[in-house]
Amino acid sequence: MTTYLFKEPLLFLAPLAGYTDSPFRQICKQWGAEVLISEMVSADGIIRDSDKTLQYAYFEEFERPFGIQIFGNDPLIMAKAASTLLPLKPDFIDLNMGCPVKKVIRRGAGSALMQTPSLAVKIVKEVKNALQDCLPLSVKFRSGWDMQNLNFLDFGILMQDSGADFLCLHPRTSRQMFSGISNWEHIKILKQNVSIPVIGNGDIKTPEDALTMLRETNCDGLMIGRGALGKPWLFSQCRELLKGGTYKPVTRQDILNTIILHIDKALQYKQEYIAVRELRAQLCFYTKGILGGPELRNKINHTDSIAELKEIILKGFPL
Ligand SMILES: Cc1cc2nc3c(=O)[nH]c(=O)nc-3n(C[C@H](O)[C@H](O)[C@H](O)COP(=O)(O)O)c2cc1C
Repeated sequence: MTTYLFKEPLLFLAPLAGYTDSPFRQICKQWGAEVLISEMVSADGIIRDSDKTLQYAYFEEFERPFGIQIFGNDPLIMAKAASTLLPLKPDFIDLNMGCPVKKVIRRGAGSALMQTPSLAVKIVKEVKNALQDCLPLSVKFRSGWDMQNLNFLDFGILMQDSGADFLCLHPRTSRQMFSGISNWEHIKILKQNVSIPVIGNGDIKTPEDALTMLRETNCDGLMIGRGALGKPWLFSQCRELLKGGTYKPVTRQDILNTIILHIDKALQYKQEYIAVRELRAQLCFYTKGILGGPELRNKINHTDSIAELKEIILKGFPL
């Protein structure tokens, strides 16, 4: 069932809560991201307050293949949430077992599940059962809780044996959060020891990084998160490098067009004052490393109007 996803190592956009909304995902898709995933959606929220929570799960047809990621720690609630998502017809369901954020692990969810593997197994089995073989199920996890508990290999094998169709590994510990360097050796070891596809994730910032991760780990897919913020063209550059050994630099016109498209897309989905606030962080990423970046970011952070935002961008990126 999952083989269509993995004819060649595919390029995934990582779930990034607060960033990978539909407008940004669509931009990444236009720039070559091959598989998209929602940000983490609370299974409890889907059951208790579905109208408000489900907005995080919605996607456009254009975004396929599309996975919805859920988090929680109660196997029956996770299963019920997965069934609730079925009418949306995602292409797969992903289980978040990697989030290190306090408010998630306090509930025994996210990466806390790596400390309770038997509960993680129950979750995978119940969700798998709820999906009735209609949809592939993936699990995204980390190297372990801390350096003394690097259980990614046992955990990955357990997830496979419980019914996961593919795995995604971000090889940092939960304790590390996002500091230090991800250890790609863990991806290689996991890939060597399971028979289902393994997606490698962590610190791909350039097309060369993507090629290196692929060569070093032999993984079945590459997942890019922070590297795509303000640089969605990274996906097409990665694909070009993987295919032919070279890639084209983006032009200023490309960057400008992408930012304007990003603003227009945000406005399609949100009211102006919300769109402007949410766009601030995203647009600041586009200005990193450009001449006059700090002044530009200051202006971006102090406007409340889309028209003004566009003007700031047009002036800030002269052709
Ligand atoms: C702001 C932010 C939000 C994130 N949200 C999620 C999330 O909702 N679900 C998830 O599985 N991982 C989440 N992650 C982790 C990323 O998906 C990814 O595993 C991590 O950033 C490492 O990949 P990268 O180096 O390519 O960014 C988040 C990371 C960041 C920085």
